[in-house]
Amino acid sequence: MGKANRRRRGAASPKTVDRVLLACSVMRRLWASPDLTPSQNISLPALYLHTPPLFVKDPYRQFVRPLLFHGVTLDPEFLHHRTMNLLAWLGQPDRGAIASQTEPWLQRQFCLTEPRLAQTCWGLDFTNPLGLAAGFDKDGLAARAWPQLGFGFAELGTVTRHAQPGNPQPRLFRLVKDESVLNRMGFNNRGAVALADRLGSYWGTQRPTIPIGINLGKSKVTELADAAEDYRFSFRQLYPYGDYFVVNVSSPNTPGLRSLQAADQLGPILAALQEENRECKPLLVKIAPDLAWPDIDAVIELAQAHGLAGIIATNTTIAKESLKTKTLLQTGNAVVDEAGGISGAPLRSRSTEVILYIYQQTGGSLPIVGVGGIFTAADAWEKITAGATLLQVYTGWIYEGPWMVRRVLAGLLAKLEEHQLPSIADAVGLSHKS
Ligand SMILES: Cc1cc2nc3c(=O)[nH]c(=O)nc-3n(C[C@H](O)[C@H](O)[C@H](O)COP(=O)(O)O)c2cc1C
Repeated sequence: MGKANRRRRGAASPKTVDRVLLACSVMRRLWASPDLTPSQNISLPALYLHTPPLFVKDPYRQFVRPLLFHGVTLDPEFLHHRTMNLLAWLGQPDRGAIASQTEPWLQRQFCLTEPRLAQTCWGLDFTNPLGLAAGFDKDGLAARAWPQLGFGFAELGTVTRHAQPGNPQPRLFRLVKDESVLNRMGFNNRGAVALADRLGSYWGTQRPTIPIGINLGKSKVTELADAAEDYRFSFRQLYPYGDYFVVNVSSPNTPGLRSLQAADQLGPILAALQEENRECKPLLVKIAPDLAWPDIDAVIELAQAHGLAGIIATNTTIAKESLKTKTLLQTGNAVVDEAGGISGAPLRSRSTEVILYIYQQTGGSLPIVGVGGIFTAADAWEKITAGATLLQVYTGWIYEGPWMVRRVLAGLLAKLEEHQLPSIADAVGLSHKS
């Protein structure tokens, strides 16, 4: 049918039909179960996967973000679960004909593979330095999707020995004026055994193409005095599935957890895990940004004494005084009185400061994973030159959307050119050298 003819009869063009079908499919995935079997998947007509490249550069920032952040008032946690459903589906290897059609598209849209961004750290190959931070995929639902979204690595968890529901809802709040999130999730997760089962079934045949970290936390029901055995149980269960492991003692949302950062409490946990660590897999500790310098010194000393592979700096902050958002709409309470940790832009400079400090104190001998407030390539560059070998993002990905990873990586390449550096490894700690 000719264009003019169609217009006269009010019929939609094939392109429009394709886009509507694609939108319907995405909507269906958003509301679908994360555990779809192949037969439950709708087999999509291959033709609409040939939809021409989208006519806008970043549909997330142009359409989705304004709608979600300023238009509809859906609960952020509800949206998070819907997103996880979609990503779980995306990671399924048996999506049939669609997979072969969508993968090149995903690759083009979200991934940037460039030898100058690649590094080997702890004997693991990272195709780029930008990873997914812990907390987004606590149960590993989308463990197979993260490589397709361009991440150089992904950290699953925090997972605890015992399954637990986390804190009462609402417990996740966007502070849009601050480009921030306040969360007090409280390690809601299905437990270490469930995660091990899931990863076992996912990776029975094929390991993921990027390094996978597993972040371990203490179960709420476990006494602080029994923390070491709690961590050890999860570590043992998950040992075959993680390329590296993280001891999380820095979440503000489990009562008493951060007290485990003190040397006399952290020491026995690290000793227990290293005793269990038969293959000498990289073990890291994740710290809070609110630690004083002497406390960070003590963690560094412990990390060196126990042969840790590195430090993740940092978790969320409990400092809320300088936020622009003063009241939480959902509760009517002053933000400073709300429990929970702050992530995103307000955390950026403090986490960079901590990275600078650790690099300085260790002379760059202990790899640092920098996390906190990365939204742009400039933010990423600042953390790398401060001393971070690898980076992670959570809140920035929510605000900037899935095209963020590629954008940041392209920006890092531009920075390498500007500074005439051959590879990203040469930029690590650069600000200490000038
Ligand atoms: C909703 C939410 C949940 C989180 N859950 C965890 C978690 O389970 N374990 C953990 O180590 N960090 C958790 N974090 C902290 C992030 O991994 C990251 O350290 C922090 O948010 C700073 O990075 P960002 O500014 O890029 O978000 C969580 C953060 C958010 C926003």
